Amino acid sequence: MAQPLPTCHSIPHPGGTVRLVQLTDTHLCKAQGGKLLGMDTDHSLQAVIDLVQLERPDIDLLLGTGDLSDQGAMEAYRRLQEYFARLTAASCWLPGNHDDRANMELVADSPLRLCREIRLGCWQVVMLDSQVPGEVGGRLGPQELALLQAALGAAAGQGLYSLVCLHHQPVPIGCEWLDEQMVADAADFFAVLDRFPGVRGVLWGHVHQQVDRLHGNIQLMASPSTCVQFAPGSAGFKADALPPGYRWLDLHEDGSLHTGVSRVHGVSFTVDLDSGGYL
Ligand SMILES: [Fe+2]
Repeated sequence: MAQPLPTCHSIPHPGGTVRLVQLTDTHLCKAQGGKLLGMDTDHSLQAVIDLVQLERPDIDLLLGTGDLSDQGAMEAYRRLQEYFARLTAASCWLPGNHDDRANMELVADSPLRLCREIRLGCWQVVMLDSQVPGEVGGRLGPQELALLQAALGAAAGQGLYSLVCLHHQPVPIGCEWLDEQMVADAADFFAVLDRFPGVRGVLWGHVHQQVDRLHGNIQLMASPSTCVQFAPGSAGFKADALPPGYRWLDLHEDGSLHTGVSRVHGVSFTVDLDSGGYL
């Protein structure tokens, strides 16, 4: 049965390397200056954006991979849009468990903002929704998996390479409390990916820490939050003292992908490291 194709947006690109930046888990509160575990998430996001401006001034696309607000408030998405606009690149969002997709759509001032497929040069970026309303954990479900298959099939027909983005982790990352929340139908997700050799990367948020792994030829990547970090290898909830950061990705014409993480240094942040929980 033919699957519906997602709405696709093409961003004009002169050729050569496609340069992306991922900003994830910004957790902006309804009121400016609101805090998560003692950290002012507006302040930390702006410090990360300052760093991106310094280190990666020429990017083609900015990816916001969920938990962009802390409670789904429209005010948070409005400020996010203003902050992201400081970087002149187009930006695209997907929802996390803390987000309200309807409010994101109401605030979005561009059809690109919540689109599901973007094409630039030799690359396709697919934006999936792993949110299960009312739950912390993630699941894609038949509709998202069908969208993924249709998008990857269309890209394969045109010789494009693919980067697939979502909020929740599709593999266990070694934190027991977070791994209870991983994508419930991850086996079905990888079964789709494995049919398309042009898929070169899977990128997510949610875990507030850097992860770099391989699944065959596919790079699996998780990234620091722009606010509070979670401690790797923790059985229960544990915050980490590492500073806020972001991930950059260079997508080359030959299908290779280079990536790295950069963190803010020289700025003081407050974080409650003894907190036993995270709402
Ligand atoms: Fe988060």
